[in-house]
Amino acid sequence: MKFLNQLKWKHVLAVVAGVAVAGSVMAVSTDMSREAIAERIKPAAKVRLAGEESTQATASASQEGDRSGEQVYNTACAACHTSGVLNAPRINVAGDWEERLTQGMDVLLEHSINGFNAMPPRGGCMNCSDDEILAAIEYMIEDI
Ligand code: HEC
Repeated sequence: MKFLNQLKWKHVLAVVAGVAVAGSVMAVSTDMSREAIAERIKPAAKVRLAGEESTQATASASQEGDRSGEQVYNTACAACHTSGVLNAPRINVAGDWEERLTQGMDVLLEHSINGFNAMPPRGGCMNCSDDEILAAIEYMIEDI
């Protein structure tokens, strides 16, 4: 029943909106200038823009506030780097890292960001920032 009621209300609202639009179209075609039309549709345009801005703000907010190396590791890297899938260097296994570490952190970071053989770019975490990736690498070699 609730659902049906909602449906009805949606219908009523659609009709009301339709009448409003038809009304404004008629008004426009009779006596409204271009400026007046622009003025009329402005509020709607503004509302949409404001909505878009807030979506963007939310999206970038989720990228800010860095996650810790441990958090990133657990969500994005652990699947391969815990057991060494496809020969991924294992977390805190010195022997797996020794040679790689001689490349320097810059190269390790670059490989992690852009991908390296079977290592996917950013470990597949496309919303991880460079800093978060770096933190995850540091977390993986923390105890070596
Ligand atoms: C799908 C599996 C997979 C995931 C997920 C993954 N990696 Fe890797 N990673 C690999 C493999 C395989 C290698 C070894 C590549 C090679 O040396 O050929 C590797 C290598 C690396 C290296 C060494 C690169 C080098 O230059 O020797 C680093 C650093 C690294 N991964 C970091 C990460 C980080 C940080 C994450 C999470 C954000 C991550 N990886 C997620 C598979 C993965």
